[in-house]
Amino acid sequence: ALVVRHRMRSSGRWARAMAILKELEGKCATPIGKLRQVADAMTVEMLAGLASEGGSKLKMLISYVDNLPTGDETGLFYALDLGGTNFRVLRVQLGGKGGNVLKQEFEEVSIPPNLMVGSSSELFDFIAAALAKFVASEGEEFHLPVGRQRELGFTFSFPVKQTSISSGTLIKWTKGFAINGTVGEDVVAELTKAIERQDLDMRVTALVNDTIGTLAGGRYYDNDVAAAVILGTGTNAAYVEHAQAIPKWHGLLPKSGKMVINMEWGNFRSSHLPITEYDQALDAESLNPGEQIFEKLISGMYLGEIVRRVLLKMAEEAALFGDSIPPKLGVQFILRTPDMSAMHHDTSSDLRVVGTKLKDILGISNTSLKTRKLVVNVCDIIAKRGARLAAAGILGVLKKQGHDAAARDGSDMQRRVIAMDGGLYEHYTIFSSCLETTLRELLGEEAAASIVIKLASDGSGIGAALLAASHSQYLELEES
Ligand code: GLC
Repeated sequence: ALVVRHRMRSSGRWARAMAILKELEGKCATPIGKLRQVADAMTVEMLAGLASEGGSKLKMLISYVDNLPTGDETGLFYALDLGGTNFRVLRVQLGGKGGNVLKQEFEEVSIPPNLMVGSSSELFDFIAAALAKFVASEGEEFHLPVGRQRELGFTFSFPVKQTSISSGTLIKWTKGFAINGTVGEDVVAELTKAIERQDLDMRVTALVNDTIGTLAGGRYYDNDVAAAVILGTGTNAAYVEHAQAIPKWHGLLPKSGKMVINMEWGNFRSSHLPITEYDQALDAESLNPGEQIFEKLISGMYLGEIVRRVLLKMAEEAALFGDSIPPKLGVQFILRTPDMSAMHHDTSSDLRVVGTKLKDILGISNTSLKTRKLVVNVCDIIAKRGARLAAAGILGVLKKQGHDAAARDGSDMQRRVIAMDGGLYEHYTIFSSCLETTLRELLGEEAAASIVIKLASDGSGIGAALLAASHSQYLELEES
């Protein structure tokens, strides 16, 4: 093949590279009709997932949150947020009176990669140690009534089968975590044991997914929030459902008549999804083959990796980067989505940023402007497919809630807010604008006017603290 490549004339190489690009573009196409099919399939799967345990790829997990924050929560609460490349600890002094955060502090710690694939106790010891250190730095402006235990909301952003608001077992790891012995275990029990090993006196009173935390945090600041979406390392959504619309729920009907559902939409799959050979290979070689297919098309953990795979193919078959294949281009996950985003947003006339990134990350120097443009094209195709599919997912949720135009008779134009969190949405501007444009296109201008996407950066941390507060062991004491 090497000899053939040597003989390949440069015009022939270029034609081959363009052919690969065109094919990619075709396979990744998401015309509006296709997006509607995806949205409809999402709605159908939501119903199936609510109907019975295991009824769908969409787990539609019951969160045990049947009341969202009111603004009356008071006191000192902690939150711990685990689920991406970083984890965060947070403390907040809540002042009640319709939503008063008196004081808030947080710290972010990056998780050593070896802990993401190590043992359960190592991971939990690491986070409990960071938590203990953080608690030790609590200043006098925070106030805990004498004789009380500190309470914590634990945001654990993986699929969990909850058994109560403060307990639940891990269904599976996602997003590059692969730790033996945690699946099937109660993650609150694991964390509690690690907290005890730190000699820290603290109780977990709420276990929530990041979508649930974001929904709760969003609602605290805005009454019209009824759904939350995460677009970060992974992707997922949660929304407020009518308790009677959950056939698989056999518990008592909550007084509110509502139940928040963690969809785990990252695991959605449908024959309508535009899947390419690159996606198939990525999935097959991933830590969780066959799982999280929607997530692998959309989220921050994977977009850069898909681009890398396309570029590798262009290097192999069209000698895009010269006669030999740049070795680093063969390294999985070497091209991270933030770097892809930086290349995609390069506005310089000579695509300087693209040139630098290719050189620094992949060891490819002296690229022509033509080549750089091609790289940007690949980023564009992959990012926009992801953004448009995410918009279709949101339409699916709005449809289920009866908030899309089709379900309206024109009278219900009440404002609806989707609380959004995640670095992909926050930092990848082309991605987020494409998502918004697509959603508008799908909903129609009139309906779109009443739907608001609101960025709630770290809404999930404060949300978890709020839910820890509304499930405090001291609550009844206070109410009586
Ligand atoms: C993954 C997790 C899910 C989480 C999402 C966003 O999809 O399975 O629980 O909400 O990532 O962090």
